[in-house]
Amino acid sequence: MGNRVSIVSVEPASRADAHVWHEVVTASMAEDLAGVPPPTRAQAHTRLTQAHTRLTGPGPGPGPGPGPGPGPGPGPVSRLLTWLAYEDDDGAGRGRAVGAATLRLFDRAGQEHLAETDLHVRPDARRRGTGTELLSAVVAEAKAARRRSLIAEVPACTPAELFCVRHGLRRARPLYHLLLPLSEVHRGWLDELTATDHPGYRPAEWDGIVPGTLADAFAAARKAMNVTPVGSTDHGAVGWDAGRVRAMAEVVTGRGDTLLTVAALDGDEIAGFTEVVIPRGTATRARQYDTVLVPDRRGHGLGVWLKAHMLRRLHDEYPQVTEIETDNAADNVHMLAVNEHLGFHRERTTYQYQLTLE
Ligand SMILES: CC(C)(COP(=O)(O)OP(=O)(O)OC[C@H]1O[C@@H](n2cnc3c(N)ncnc32)[C@H](O)[C@@H]1OP(=O)(O)O)[C@@H](O)C(=O)NCCC(=O)NCCS
Repeated sequence: MGNRVSIVSVEPASRADAHVWHEVVTASMAEDLAGVPPPTRAQAHTRLTQAHTRLTGPGPGPGPGPGPGPGPGPGPVSRLLTWLAYEDDDGAGRGRAVGAATLRLFDRAGQEHLAETDLHVRPDARRRGTGTELLSAVVAEAKAARRRSLIAEVPACTPAELFCVRHGLRRARPLYHLLLPLSEVHRGWLDELTATDHPGYRPAEWDGIVPGTLADAFAAARKAMNVTPVGSTDHGAVGWDAGRVRAMAEVVTGRGDTLLTVAALDGDEIAGFTEVVIPRGTATRARQYDTVLVPDRRGHGLGVWLKAHMLRRLHDEYPQVTEIETDNAADNVHMLAVNEHLGFHRERTTYQYQLTLE
């Protein structure tokens, strides 16, 4: 039997392509990630169709939060390329869509070597080589774009791990995915935690873009993100400036999500901060983005203090949010300890797999 599947590159992705991607991913996630809410149709549409916008700053990167941006001034951040796999319909046109893949090419200074893929095949269409064909298209494009590393995040103990090993990807690091039901966190306890005395520090809170007076300090604190454990993942190190932190917030708010930040101020400096994103619409699950303390500010309980402030904001200002999800590298013991102290439960594990491209 010949090739039963056609791989179609959709560039730029249309609304119809985004819907096809959404259907395939939803079916695939129901099989391997039961319990994890799939993206909504609107999110799928935004993700795929805005993929080619030349943003004036950074976009989301690998890991939970938005990654750092390009060199000084405006510039492209990353590009998202999409492929769909259709069953061949005996030459009578496109048959059923059975697979979908995306490739994100990071264009930020310090990360031009990096690419990230996300691949899905409908459960009833697996083991027929579709995943392999999609990966071939992804790898060819990543090589053409002169990438050194291709990263894929894979749910632990699923066929995707076997698929990755079969194709020469190696495990780079485990990520623990944690969930905190807010009903389990008593408001009085948060009051207690936020009242803990941290002489010299005061909290600052904002929605969306950082206030102008804090932008430089915020960019300086964000650089500490480069000093967090990444296992053996080839993430690279990137810089930040005030323009880039503003642009990052514009990316998030531009897609209609709510970005909340709480920072610990020491005079004019930001010692650390924590960010949460509430997806637009009626989402009840908020997503933890970055939490960072500048290295010499670590070890004094500021992480718990900052995150308790954030949880109190969610309690008070966003009562529709009932849970918050985050992920931590398994070797990020301090961040895990902070989250466990606050009541986060470990839900599942994924692995970042990495392919070194010749
Ligand atoms: C990973 C995934 C995309 C593979 O798609 P697929 O079309 O079934 O993959 P292929 O048919 O090309 O499989 C290629 C090889 O991978 C390995 N493999 C894939 N699924 C396997 C399974 N269930 N058991 C054992 N080996 C498996 C085999 O070596 C297979 O070759 P073979 O069939 O000749 O033995 C699919 O399982 C999926 O959608 N998983 C959920 C999404 C996900 O986790 N994506 C992350 C991956 S980047």
